[in-house]
Amino acid sequence: MDRIRIRGGAPLNGTIPISGAKNAALPLMTASLLTDETLELTNVPRLADVSSLLRILSNFGVDHMIAGRRPGQTSETGQTVRLTARTIIDTCAPYELVSTMRASFWVIAPLLARFGQARVSLPGGCAIGTRPVDLLIMAMERLGATIEIDGGYVVAKAPRGLQGGEIVFPKVTVGGTHVALMAAVLANGTTVIENAAREPEVADLANCLVKMGARIEGGGTCRIVVEGVSRLHGASHEVLPDRIETGTYAIAVAMTGGDVTLTNTRPDLLQFALDTLGQVGVDISVTNEGIRVRRNGAGLEPVDVTTDPFPGFPTDLQAQFMALMTRAKGTSRITETIFENRFMHVQELARLGASIRLDGDSAFVDGVKRLRGAPVMATDLRASVSLVIAGLAAEGETMINRVYHLDRGFEALEAKLGRCGAEIERIKS
Ligand code: EPZ
Repeated sequence: MDRIRIRGGAPLNGTIPISGAKNAALPLMTASLLTDETLELTNVPRLADVSSLLRILSNFGVDHMIAGRRPGQTSETGQTVRLTARTIIDTCAPYELVSTMRASFWVIAPLLARFGQARVSLPGGCAIGTRPVDLLIMAMERLGATIEIDGGYVVAKAPRGLQGGEIVFPKVTVGGTHVALMAAVLANGTTVIENAAREPEVADLANCLVKMGARIEGGGTCRIVVEGVSRLHGASHEVLPDRIETGTYAIAVAMTGGDVTLTNTRPDLLQFALDTLGQVGVDISVTNEGIRVRRNGAGLEPVDVTTDPFPGFPTDLQAQFMALMTRAKGTSRITETIFENRFMHVQELARLGASIRLDGDSAFVDGVKRLRGAPVMATDLRASVSLVIAGLAAEGETMINRVYHLDRGFEALEAKLGRCGAEIERIKS
């Protein structure tokens, strides 16, 4: 298994291009199952999760083509993926494929909507909590599907097609909203989704579905109304920038000091997190080139943060922000409200010298004068990158083991940081 070695202490200076969002690309790729025509997606990041989903879609019989690089494009220019689900040979997604990535469970909705049946293994994914699928099942049932659990598989049926209905989510769920949208676009009649997730990735999926001929109002708001249509057609859509990657590099610069411009991204995708960095003492400005992040020698102010659904502070930036607060001039309280088990980075950060006390859903982080390099282990995607951030500021060498988690969600991480002055290298196994 590959490892990443970091020598901490170097400030970051330069430009980091932000990739297309993993969490937008995955539902968009899934939406290709809704039509027999070609869905072209541009700005798709080169990530392990994208490859895993391509494998699952191929298994169903979806043709895919990855367009070659055009002159002037670098290895970090997002790729163009064309997906054509003309002939589907199988509507079953087996355990071996679904267990590695929770988002692959979402294929159940377009398969059910277009073919009237689907059999999909219960999902896996990052070990960050129990992560049930009861609300995704509820959404499909509200549209008239019958659902059974059979030997670890969810079997969904709607032989006469789905019927529009009212879906009221008792809590905000991104995956639940994606599933509800993809099921509703081909249902007969009107569907109203209440308490829908407002994450930009939901709005991106809704925008793409509209280009494919869907009739959707309110994508990206808490009330989405879908007027079902009988068929969708092909379209071309650019995946929106990755707000979590943007926030991660902004936090990395806050941690090391320096001056970095994040390009190909948008501040409105993570305004709350950028404002929080401002409170901590980081200089954030928006220029023609992108988001400029600067910190000179001044210390970091401690700040209390609570994760919340969009537009609140994202749970997917919680671990990275905690790494930053290990160096603040006092105690910060970080409260996690989305996933109950998303503190596994705490013990690894402690190996680098961080002082963190857990109390229920809160972590109390006492800033320390210095972190010291040590061997650490990546436990999930965002936890892994929090260790990279801590390692960039730690004295001496940090060796991060099990980096396959990072490859699921961060494209060309070492190259992007290395070009800005970080001493970081991958050691191939
Ligand atoms: C998406 O996961 C993201 N994944 C996650 O990013 C992200 O952390 C999460 O949304 C929250 O923003 C992708 O987009 C691929 P949820 P999702 O359904 O959709 C509970 C990353 O690192 N819930 O919004 O699975 C659930 O347990 C990943 O990129 C139910 O109770 O998250 C959680 O407490 C990790 N029943 C809350 O809702 C359900 O049926 C929100 O989960 C579904 C969810």
